[in-house]
Amino acid sequence: MVVRASAYADELVKTAKTIASPGRGILAMDESNATCGKRLASIGLENTEANRQAYRTLLVTAPGLGQYISGAILFEETLYQSAVDGRKIVDILVEQGIVPGIKVDKGLVPLAGSNNESWCQGLDGLDAREAAYYQAGARFCKWRTVVSIPNGPSELAVKEAAWGLARYAAISQDNGLVPIVEPEILLDGEHGIERTFEVAQKVWAETFYAMAENNVMFEGILLKPSMVTPGAESKDKATPEQVAEYTLKLLHRRIPPSVPGIMFLSGGQSEVEATQNLNAMNQGPNPWHVSFSYARALQNTCLKTWGGAPENVKAAQDALLLRAKANSLAQLGKYTS
Ligand code: 13P
Repeated sequence: MVVRASAYADELVKTAKTIASPGRGILAMDESNATCGKRLASIGLENTEANRQAYRTLLVTAPGLGQYISGAILFEETLYQSAVDGRKIVDILVEQGIVPGIKVDKGLVPLAGSNNESWCQGLDGLDAREAAYYQAGARFCKWRTVVSIPNGPSELAVKEAAWGLARYAAISQDNGLVPIVEPEILLDGEHGIERTFEVAQKVWAETFYAMAENNVMFEGILLKPSMVTPGAESKDKATPEQVAEYTLKLLHRRIPPSVPGIMFLSGGQSEVEATQNLNAMNQGPNPWHVSFSYARALQNTCLKTWGGAPENVKAAQDALLLRAKANSLAQLGKYTS
């Protein structure tokens, strides 16, 4: 069997290693226009392009952000957008030493034949879109699909999630973009941590099987898993040590050491919880870089502090830098609250 390697193989490995560098993680700022609208509404702002631009300018111009942040995931609008001062957002990121990334999936829709579950669209035309994103400066990308525990998950939903991620990963590597592989296991539900662990084992087994079938080069991917926790409505609560124990057990059982970085999502955890859990996972040596790719757990306080007022920009940037630094320390296992 002859397997064609991506022409970008060396570059992919280098990009993945840069993103997975010590003391750094990813700022997810790729909210779709609809989700960004919800965030802006929470501070009483209208969902206009100008408001999205003002907020995203604030994020990327935070002084010294690149010390803690190695990559930023953008929504398509932001990849082609200029900051308020006219400079391209992508250029500002590169100046900060931050690799620009792009969300490439087209969102979730109901999965026919399943138990009210969803699947992720976006494979049609992905190859051409990604070639254009590379030209525009993106070097990595993200595809987020979800698995719901209360709704099953059904065999069908898990297989569909895994296959979609694997096709996306192969197409992305062909276009020079390091794929972030994100099957988010939603926090929703009353289940305990054991049930999350069991589902996560199944999901990652299927995902790696499908990626191997699609000849994805594991040295040139990054993962974005959910941490293994009890369901959000469970009566059980887990300590950071328990979350770390279950999550690391899952990673050791399912993730080959050739994968350079595991960049967790925050998934609705509080800012401090997300930092504490990451810190607990970095108390000993790991075969992969174990870090963060947070949206809400980096941005919540920042967004509230800004509130849309130009005079609050500096305080909001300080709030972002505070969380970025805390998570940087947690990546190194040195966070103390
Ligand atoms: P949260 O950290 O808010 O879960 O978002 C991360 C993300 O990008 C989900 O795809």
